Amino acid sequence: MYKIVKKEIFCESIKLMEVQAPHVASSAKAGQFVIIQIDEKGERIPLTIADYDRERGTITLVFQEVGKTTMYLGTLEVGDTLLAVAGPLGHPSEIENYGTIVCIGGGVGIAPIFPIARALKKAGNYVISIIGARTKEFLFWEDRMRSVSDELVVCTDDGSHGRKALVTEPLREILEERGEEIKRVWAIGPAIMMKFVAKTTEPFDIPTIVSLNTIMVDGTGMCGCCRIELQDEVKFVCVDGPEFDGHKVDWDNVLARLVIYREQERLALERWLEQTQRKTAVGA
Ligand SMILES: Cc1cc2nc3c(=O)[nH]c(=O)nc-3n(C[C@H](O)[C@H](O)[C@H](O)COP(=O)(O)OP(=O)(O)OC[C@H]3O[C@@H](n4cnc5c(N)ncnc54)[C@H](O)[C@@H]3O)c2cc1C
Ligand code: FES
Repeated sequence: MYKIVKKEIFCESIKLMEVQAPHVASSAKAGQFVIIQIDEKGERIPLTIADYDRERGTITLVFQEVGKTTMYLGTLEVGDTLLAVAGPLGHPSEIENYGTIVCIGGGVGIAPIFPIARALKKAGNYVISIIGARTKEFLFWEDRMRSVSDELVVCTDDGSHGRKALVTEPLREILEERGEEIKRVWAIGPAIMMKFVAKTTEPFDIPTIVSLNTIMVDGTGMCGCCRIELQDEVKFVCVDGPEFDGHKVDWDNVLARLVIYREQERLALERWLEQTQRKTAVGA
């Protein structure tokens, strides 16, 4: 059992949990993820290791409530336990001293970009970070991102905090002004954001790494659920990723596969909400 030792609520739908998982914390690296299962009847979902503390034996997960399992997870409190935490999974980010790099985090993607920006800064890179969210309410870790960045641009879609822009706008300006200097771009966020980041950097021929958040089931390369197409090859995000060259990803395929179980996901959420309401009514 894996105990939740800390919970923070960033906004109604984005929450942080620090979980005791010494075997994961002892070897976790930037870019890796875990697959968690809340209880014996629960499904397994992948979440990125947003931070880890080797001494305390804990990992930090930041998640957005989008469906049944993430909403259920959001109801847990400090002292509650998770049945399983498998990891660290996936290949770590390739951290080297590249020179000047740009790290982009969109929405809940700010959490997974943080350890990558921190590792790149520690390796001696000049780190320009861009973080963005729909509104001020959905922004978090601005201070943490500032602490690991040489420059930080903060954007919101509606201008309620920082600059009123999508993350691709400051990115385009940076590339136009100092394209030669930028050696690599990392982007984590909604698939549509990563697609447009890759489209923005493509004409400048700047290697662009994206972390794909496909649907996953087994996390071992066997079920095929996280299959993606990269130009002429097929890869599995759980064992070959989660990071890929954003210029090679078939984005239409990624976006289409993300919604293939929408009806089943809707039904699962509906059933869970009904059961939760029934339990609350009986308990009341
Ligand atoms: C390697 C990896 C790392 C991830 N890290 C994080 C993380 O750190 N924090 C976090 O909040 N989420 C992360 N995700 C996404 C997370 O796993 C899903 O949001 C979660 O599985 C949804 O489960 P659910 O039962 O709550 O929702 P579901 O009922 O499965 O889905 C509800 C809605 O969300 C959409 N959805 C489902 N899965 C995804 C997805 N992977 N990406 C975008 N939309 C999706 C569905 O199309 C549907 O509309 C990661 C995914 C991967 C593959
Ligand atoms: S999750 Fe099953 S193959 Fe990747």
